[in-house]
Amino acid sequence: MTSLSAPALAVARTGTAQDAEARAFASRVEDRTIKVGIVGLGYTGLPLALGFADAGFHVVGVDIDPVKVESVNRSESYLPDLTDIELQDVADRLTAVPDPSALHDADVVMICVPTPVTPEQTADLAYVSTAVDSVLPYLRAGSLVVLQSTVPAGTTAEIGRKITARTGLIPGEDLYLAMAPERVDPANTNGWTLLNTPKLVGGVGAESTRRAQLFLEQVCRTVVPVSSPDVAELSKVYENTFRLINIALSLELSDLCHKLGLPVREVIDAAATKPFGFLAHYPGPGVGGECIPVDPLFLSERARREGLTLGLVETAHRRISERPGQVVRRVGELLAARGQELKGARVLIVGVSYKAGVSDLRNAPALDIVRGLRAQGAEISYFDPMVPGFEVDGLPVATATWGREQLASQDCVVLVTPHGRLTAEPAWSAAPLVLDTRGELAPAANVEVL
Ligand SMILES: NC(=O)c1ccc[n+]([C@@H]2O[C@H](COP(=O)([O-])OP(=O)(O)OC[C@H]3O[C@@H](n4cnc5c(N)ncnc54)[C@H](O)[C@@H]3O)[C@@H](O)[C@H]2O)c1
Repeated sequence: MTSLSAPALAVARTGTAQDAEARAFASRVEDRTIKVGIVGLGYTGLPLALGFADAGFHVVGVDIDPVKVESVNRSESYLPDLTDIELQDVADRLTAVPDPSALHDADVVMICVPTPVTPEQTADLAYVSTAVDSVLPYLRAGSLVVLQSTVPAGTTAEIGRKITARTGLIPGEDLYLAMAPERVDPANTNGWTLLNTPKLVGGVGAESTRRAQLFLEQVCRTVVPVSSPDVAELSKVYENTFRLINIALSLELSDLCHKLGLPVREVIDAAATKPFGFLAHYPGPGVGGECIPVDPLFLSERARREGLTLGLVETAHRRISERPGQVVRRVGELLAARGQELKGARVLIVGVSYKAGVSDLRNAPALDIVRGLRAQGAEISYFDPMVPGFEVDGLPVATATWGREQLASQDCVVLVTPHGRLTAEPAWSAAPLVLDTRGELAPAANVEVL
């Protein structure tokens, strides 16, 4: 990771105590004596910790997962985009610990913990709340706290009220609090990284925004200030809702193309030749990960609290949630057309992580596909070079190797997640029947597109 040179750290000199303190903060950012604490060393926290360490800061990362703590301290990466060498290069500036007391001398604390949904499909802010509680004892006048986790609008302001209630410190006056939502796209193949992806920041009060912007500019080339944490929170959730709705639309187009016998990807690629006003989204087996299936629920939840129903968002969410079931039905129909039943059929799932290039199975459509096929009595195995093993409902899914013999022995092979150059493999031709849930395989007599 390339570090940025320190930008001009201009601070207005009006002579007040706060200005003197602001100047001291700026010069400590510039000379790298600011101590950085990162709470949560997962997909978003570890790249950030590495980024600041690479930029010359001393960083303490806190994580409740001892495996991650040990891996970081051994300079062993567990993320697709970070190498062991990158961690080795900053080993003298990046330490991981399980105990938040290591934050006692941190000047800046960034919170990067998960924000899943509850079974009732509302935001589960328990990790954020616990992380904030763990940081509270170490906050002091002048501390800067930056929330990176994706949250419903109003959460940062709520954290500010908690900080004041517990410590007496007022955000924007005594200490500084901002929201800077993470936009990282693990395994992005178009070169978008922490460094070049513009970062939004909205603080509680102008000084919180300014300090957080200054600090984040040390690792992000472009930091875009917005007028409040609520704007930053809502923008992040809106970004992913935009994707959800467009993916849902592409699923509807795909269903229509199926009826018309037209290639959906060609239709979308043709539309995408328009140089303005169109952004291509492609159909697939559903969506996974912690963002697209989750963040729109934060938007709907927030709207409901205001007495609004976001019908479009809710319909899109439902449409996408049904897609794995549609994959299962299609396998059944294709087998039935060949006089076979799903019960007892040998079905190989190719690629199970939620997207290509990662090993992450969170909310992966493959989980529901396996569940649905199993419920119909199919015998499931999977091949995924990035996932050595996984379970669905406590039952392990059998692993399979890749090769012509393996594919030839199946009743149906389902392409769910196309890692690397998997779609170019010649072995696909050996399978008696392939269901391509993404329309990425070359057309062939044995290949059906979902
Ligand atoms: N993964 C992505 O692609 C992505 C992209 C943009 C935004 N986000 C958002 O970023 C946030 C974090 O996501 P992530 O993917 O990094 O999650 P993650 O699960 O990969 O990492 C979170 C880490 O926080 C740790 N943790 C949980 N509670 C803790 C606590 N109290 N103290 C210390 N550590 C704690 C966990 O052990 C875990 O290692 C979420 O809000 C997510 O929606 C994720």
